[in-house]
Amino acid sequence: MRRKIVAGNWKMNTLLPEGELLVKQIEFLTKELETDVEIIIAPPFTHIATLGKYIKDYEMNVSLAAQNCADQEHGAYTGEVSAKMLHNLGCKYVILGHSERREYYGENSESLYKKINLVLNEGMSPIFCIGERLEERESSRHFEVVSQQIKDVLYRLRGVELAKVIVAYEPVWAIGTGKTATADQADEMHAYIRRVIGDKFGDYSENIPILYGGSCKPSNAKEIFGKEDVDGGLIGGASLVAQDFIGIIKSF
Ligand code: 13P
Repeated sequence: MRRKIVAGNWKMNTLLPEGELLVKQIEFLTKELETDVEIIIAPPFTHIATLGKYIKDYEMNVSLAAQNCADQEHGAYTGEVSAKMLHNLGCKYVILGHSERREYYGENSESLYKKINLVLNEGMSPIFCIGERLEERESSRHFEVVSQQIKDVLYRLRGVELAKVIVAYEPVWAIGTGKTATADQADEMHAYIRRVIGDKFGDYSENIPILYGGSCKPSNAKEIFGKEDVDGGLIGGASLVAQDFIGIIKSF
């Protein structure tokens, strides 16, 4: 039985007081919630210390993730935040390779490979994002693109390291567009991703959680999460509204 996970990627949204309010609302709405879903939130760096303390003080069943980390361990890298700093604040996860970072900040397989190793060395787990652009799907290259993204980074890990990774399939054309992949499209790609991972790592692939991301909301989550190879979601916009985020968690 694979883990079920719903992770909220807040991106560059909320001021700290708004983030605190959102966590309080999540706390209120999850207090009585009996669920086997692992809940993760990825707020901006500036919120992590404060929200981490709140989560701990109120013994919330929520784990913290960061949205990125540096590709160097420490030192003269102005403006960067290291994996160790994030671990020290209580992060269990780091989102890596989000399409917005690949697209706007030149994130590539080399830097991602370094980051994955730094995250793993800290005992945290990467949430590794992959996914094709619209023109790649329209020209039927989506499987090839996704497979290459896996091979360029994950294939360089050892099996025991791969076992710590969460994969997030986020078709770029579905992010923030209101255009969701159909449940069948998601399932088809998730099964393919699991096969590509299995080609290199054998049975390890069976236990890797593969999350879907892209315009996921309470109204479509149930159908998507109902698919065999979909183990949860990486949620953007809807994770900023506590009711919607919890609604998605309840969809399992
Ligand atoms: P939306 O849910 O806003 O489409 O964003 C998805 C995403 O990019 C999560 O990482």
